[in-house]
Amino acid sequence: MKRQRQRLCRLDELDDPGSRGVSFERGGERVAAFVVLHDGQVRAYENRCPHTGAPLDWVEHQFLDAEGALIQCAVHDARFKIDDGRCVAGPCAGDALTPLPVTVEDGVVWLIP
Ligand code: FES
Repeated sequence: MKRQRQRLCRLDELDDPGSRGVSFERGGERVAAFVVLHDGQVRAYENRCPHTGAPLDWVEHQFLDAEGALIQCAVHDARFKIDDGRCVAGPCAGDALTPLPVTVEDGVVWLIP
């Protein structure tokens, strides 16, 4: 059976810069993820820090640092580039978040298979 795209959130639920926790279905299970809007560009990553596998957010929907310039893990403060998820500071420097392919259509952010 052909895999369907999945709705993650509405674009107007995001500030720019801003982020939102979402989830999607994979293999019958819900997978935690988040969407980031920055300079008009939408990106999404699994909500799983490469350091320990923990979720990055302590405050719901808050995945960016105070400047809105980098993704921040609340557990041990790792920082990741928004555009490619690469860790640029913290205990997992050189590792990266797992990116998810998304598209925006009719004001909705979709995960594409
Ligand atoms: S769990 Fe993310 S920096 Fe340690």
